[in-house]
Amino acid sequence: MQLIDGKATAAAIKQEIAEEVKTMVANGERAPHLAAILVGHDGGSETYVAAKVKACEECGFTSTLLRFEDSITEEELLAQVDALNKNPEIDGFIVQLPLPKHIDSQKVIEAVDYRKDVDGFNPVNVGRLSIGLPCFVSATPSGIMDLLDRYHIETKGKHCVVLGRSNIVGKPVAMLMMQKTNPGNATVTVCHSASENLNEICASADILIAAIGQPEFVKADMVKEGAVVIDVGTTRVPDATKKSGFKLKGDVKFDEVAPKCSFITPVPGGVGPMTICSLMKNTLLAAKRR
Ligand code: GUN
Repeated sequence: MQLIDGKATAAAIKQEIAEEVKTMVANGERAPHLAAILVGHDGGSETYVAAKVKACEECGFTSTLLRFEDSITEEELLAQVDALNKNPEIDGFIVQLPLPKHIDSQKVIEAVDYRKDVDGFNPVNVGRLSIGLPCFVSATPSGIMDLLDRYHIETKGKHCVVLGRSNIVGKPVAMLMMQKTNPGNATVTVCHSASENLNEICASADILIAAIGQPEFVKADMVKEGAVVIDVGTTRVPDATKKSGFKLKGDVKFDEVAPKCSFITPVPGGVGPMTICSLMKNTLLAAKRR
């Protein structure tokens, strides 16, 4: 069994991006510029956005954080999005989710110019992904594909079972895995809460991507000997021994599943660290297309 080290892979990718940015700047171009809109004071969002700003520094990007109180109106927020769409100094930007209840998140996502949508959430990018056109791929699916690529995991012709059909992980990763690319070119099955024979389907997977958000849902009897298991789960469970008061649990019962696997991602330290990396890759791509 080989552990897939997302932390080390993410560090290597950020290093490669930083090298590329150095060359860009040496050639007289300006560094990629990412902007982030953060509304309110949600603890999780504060942490994520701070990590994104730090990753920008590591990669040599310029970053701008635009903060607004919960009281911002939808109209005001849409005006901010419009200003970023039009600002030639900004290569890409994100609106950190969740947004306050009085704001229609979908409307905001659709207002982001797809050419600057480095989160890959705009339906134009999702549609382009589904038909194999160049696009910004959202963070988690892109991170999974990078891990498969960097660990030279054979996907062509393999049975890939995706557990979960969310718009941000299950559906896009299924699309990517069925695309005629490498990694990709797999036979893909998507399982969800209404699936019959779910255990048997999972047990037939060469590659199992667990993204249902139920801690330790995948048990040893649901995994084939020699399978590749990618655990996307990051449920916070209380843990008094941690400074934060919680620990992260994956969707896979790691201790009993890992011995059966050829490769497995741990939680934490697997898919998680790769997600910010994907945002950095997309921002560099946006800057190159400028
Ligand atoms: N909230 C949780 N994950 C994400 C993400 O990837 N992008 C944005 N914009 N908000 C999030």
